Amino acid sequence: MQALVLAGGEGTRLRPLTADVPKPVLPLAGRPFLGFMLDWLGRHGVDDVLLSCGFLSDAVEEALGDDWRGIRLRYVREREPLGTGGPLRLAYDEGLLDERLYMLNGDVLCDFDLTAQRERHAETGALATIALTAVEDTSSYGVVPTAPDGQVEAFLEKRPGPAPTNRVNAGCYLLEREVAERIPSGAAASMEHDVFPSLCMNGLYGFHAEGYWMDIGTPERYLEATWDLLGGRIASDLPERDGGGSLVGEGSVVEGARIGPKAVVGERCVVGAGTVVDHAVLHDGVTVGERCALERCIVARDVRIEDGARVEAGAVIGAGAVVAAGATVGAGARVEPGERVG
Ligand code: GDD
Ligand code: MG
Repeated sequence: MQALVLAGGEGTRLRPLTADVPKPVLPLAGRPFLGFMLDWLGRHGVDDVLLSCGFLSDAVEEALGDDWRGIRLRYVREREPLGTGGPLRLAYDEGLLDERLYMLNGDVLCDFDLTAQRERHAETGALATIALTAVEDTSSYGVVPTAPDGQVEAFLEKRPGPAPTNRVNAGCYLLEREVAERIPSGAAASMEHDVFPSLCMNGLYGFHAEGYWMDIGTPERYLEATWDLLGGRIASDLPERDGGGSLVGEGSVVEGARIGPKAVVGERCVVGAGTVVDHAVLHDGVTVGERCALERCIVARDVRIEDGARVEAGAVIGAGAVVAAGATVGAGARVEPGERVG
């Protein structure tokens, strides 16, 4: 079974983390995000994955290579960003598509029953079947009302105001190759604005999926997904966590520091004595001095945080930045890669 994974967006909402690491391979709980997706696809019989890349495509290939635990990985590279629909057509034009395939947004952490979705798709004879998940706030997603027989009545992408249903597009589709033929060649296109609206009540079905679902595309949701993985809310083969649900990567020295609860310390980090890392994420190679306080923040690789500094909730620090001794990075602040906070 084949899957096409969209991995070419710029990850704007996750900047500065995505300045040099594309969102799909950003480390999540210590491993490239897409690793979780590929494991999940593999459990549902997917053995052939096309990774559709544009922005920083080499970094995706470098992180994943051409095989992930027995799944063949191939890369489809765009010269210009083709949106969410153009990449499907490009893969078709390159002769790569099977007759029926999964298509996924490359930033959803999820454990839906893809096999059941595939069965449903076959039963209805759909051209496309969208997995739908229920959310509290629909405003940043595609809202998808369906008829009693499962056909999609409308596709309402990120509309303000009241929504007709709380079921939204989970970014996980089953498609017939024919869908690609309907997308113009060599141009950008949108699944959400062009393809799906044109198929409403005309071959497009919804599949009400149950289970865990999170789009990791904002710092808040990236942290939530991290805590959920650490706490086992979604199944994974992460290494054993400590009593507080935290992970400390290989080669890291954290003696005398309090790591956790629910913290991730990457590989080759040093965290000084008396420092607290509470619900925070440190990527690889981060150095933190003594008596610092890091809370609910994300610190990219190779950052240096000097003695007595504080990093408050929601702050995101870009790769290689320096936070000087005694300085505070306030709640929700963004520190650019390489910047020095005095
Ligand atoms: N190859 C390629 N080229 N991929 C792209 C491009 C592009 O030009 N633009 C975006 N992508 C990829 C992103 O990397 C991401 O994996 C996926 O397409 C979706 O883009 P996002 O930017 O994450 O979209 P969103 O989260 O705002 O909304 C989408 O996902 C929601 C569910 O998480 C929509 O599909 C919504 O309808 C949906 O509810
Ligand atoms: Mg997204």
